[in-house]
Amino acid sequence: MSISRRVFLRNAAIASTLLTIKNNAIAKAAERTGIKDFYKDDFRIGTAISTSTLLKNDEHMLGLIAREFDAITPENCMKWEPIRPHDKEWDWAAADKFVEFGQKNNMYIVGHNLVWHSQVPKEVFQNESGGTITKDALTIKMQDHIAKLAGRYKGKIHAWDVVNEAVEDNGSWRKSQWYKIMGEDFIAKAFRMAHEVDPTAHLIYNDYNTETPVKRDFIVGMVKKFKKQGVPIQGVGLQEHLSIDGPSVGEIEKTILALANIGVRVHVTELDVDVLPSVWNLPTAEVSTRFDYTPERDPYIQGLPKQVEEKLAKRYEDIFKIYLKHRDKIDRVTLWGTTDGETWLNDFPIKGRTNYPLLFDRGFQPKSVYFRLLDLKK
Ligand code: G3I
Repeated sequence: MSISRRVFLRNAAIASTLLTIKNNAIAKAAERTGIKDFYKDDFRIGTAISTSTLLKNDEHMLGLIAREFDAITPENCMKWEPIRPHDKEWDWAAADKFVEFGQKNNMYIVGHNLVWHSQVPKEVFQNESGGTITKDALTIKMQDHIAKLAGRYKGKIHAWDVVNEAVEDNGSWRKSQWYKIMGEDFIAKAFRMAHEVDPTAHLIYNDYNTETPVKRDFIVGMVKKFKKQGVPIQGVGLQEHLSIDGPSVGEIEKTILALANIGVRVHVTELDVDVLPSVWNLPTAEVSTRFDYTPERDPYIQGLPKQVEEKLAKRYEDIFKIYLKHRDKIDRVTLWGTTDGETWLNDFPIKGRTNYPLLFDRGFQPKSVYFRLLDLKK
């Protein structure tokens, strides 16, 4: 064989080896590239992690989350009832796994939540004889809970949903047990306690339907008042549990602007887009049946029709255009779940439906909405 042919074949072998290495490197990089990388100069992109994913150590789901997201929120495992079913009984397993996963993947770790009207054992609000606890005794219980929970993860959790959903949609205080027993300053107390336990954590008030004008105005007024009193409230969480048909991006933008104007950071904390027929606008006379399962209320069992897939992608695109327009005001956009298979909307407000509110399908594959959001950053 001539020398030049040997040289040629040797160079070809080197070239193909280099190409293989390069392709592997690209493949590796592609493995590491997710939606978070497309938005890294705008805001963090997060997801909620279910307790079962954590306890099963679901490597497929956790691998997808590590690749695609740089912020995480525990969907349920840090709520009072799951983590402290009885006063002296704590179940740290899922919460510890959650924090460990976030640290290992260098993520923005959100604690959810410290004070909420829901998923709190009723004994929390009772005295020894089962009557209603006094304001002072409940204050001590709140302090103890925050000290133990936020204290355990001090310096590890970057932000806490300190108080969840203290305001009604009609722009009034939710008459929760916290409110009824401690009055409205239960909120300020919770923030002060959380700040005392972990001064480094970014503290958030978190609510839904924040696009409803009267609710938006009430929340803005509440936060303004607290800030004037020196309450350490640094962010407001817009949950953004949206429908494919509303509320308008105009109302979403107004809320972002109103909160930025009072000097708090905006967090989109629980974004999903419900594609199923709403039951909320049924005549109230049907209130007892509006939650009943009927086939016509669950139209996409066999899969999402192309035109609905497109409508969903367009809805997310319109929403993200607003978020990008106000990227300077927004720290994070968190989806309330990763795949359609795990979304709470399969069972709310009607159990057993097939919904499609998120970016990944039941087979863990990115949906067309995912690519639409990447295209916004091309
Ligand atoms: O883990 C138990 C299981 O052991 C038991 O067999 C089963 C029986 O019903 O219940 C399971 O707990 C459920 C839990 O989700 C885990 O699946 C609770 O009943 C159920 O109420 C709980 O629903 C969660 C809901 O909050 C209430 O905590 C949803 O998953 C969660 O997505 C939803 O998230 C809330 C946010 O925290 C606050 N903002 C609104 C948002 C939607 O409601």
